[in-house]
Amino acid sequence: MRVKVVNNYEILSKEAESVFLEAIKLKEKPIFGLATGSTPIGLYKNLVNSFNEGKISFKDAKTFNLDEYIGLSKEDTRNYKSFMNENLFSKVDIDLKNTFFPDVYNKDLKQSCLSYSKLLSNYKRDIQILGLGENGHIAFNEPGTEFNSKTHIVKLTESTIKANSRFFKSLEETPSSAITMGIEEILNAHLILLLVAGEKKKEALKILLDGKITIECPASALLNNPNLIIICDKEAYPYKE
Ligand code: GLP
Repeated sequence: MRVKVVNNYEILSKEAESVFLEAIKLKEKPIFGLATGSTPIGLYKNLVNSFNEGKISFKDAKTFNLDEYIGLSKEDTRNYKSFMNENLFSKVDIDLKNTFFPDVYNKDLKQSCLSYSKLLSNYKRDIQILGLGENGHIAFNEPGTEFNSKTHIVKLTESTIKANSRFFKSLEETPSSAITMGIEEILNAHLILLLVAGEKKKEALKILLDGKITIECPASALLNNPNLIIICDKEAYPYKE
């Protein structure tokens, strides 16, 4: 595990971009695991700039997103597919056919989970981008999720619904369930890049940095992948430097 503590979000996003570009440098057909949330937005902006400068192409890339809300319409701009389109896909040369999400519009959601798992098992990610939930969740794997979990349907915890409600008009309107990639599948990447910003993440990050592996902090499962890089800002870092 490598931990990098930086002064602010701008540097965090710059560092994240460097790790990303390095990880895919020699890959002809890179495979990306992508995350939503506020934290990776700066990274995606930088990747768009890199693309505009001709430093990177997504032409032959495949992407797999971590999760998707259940209950929002396809057109709803708050679903995670729209988020990715807005922040990255519509601004680079990726073929949308090569961008994958759990299918939350299938009548049989259990089948969707199985199909996504099957797909993921064929594509080990070159780099998996991750954010961190305030309660230590990764993707939508809430505390208590087994580390050998595969793609599954989740009922979101109150704390997660509350945190996500900032994108909705009210708590009631905020989705309370989702399909998420499982922890075992998240770990199936050559490199994991965990981005952590802000005071609210301090407690969860501390469990991880203390090296305590517990299902009460899903992110601590990441310690089982030796190729883990954590970039955090000063606010999120739980120790004195
Ligand atoms: C949601 C997403 C996670 C993300 C988390 C933190 O729960 N499903 O993938 O890591 O939010 O988001 P933020 O980066 O906005 O704090």
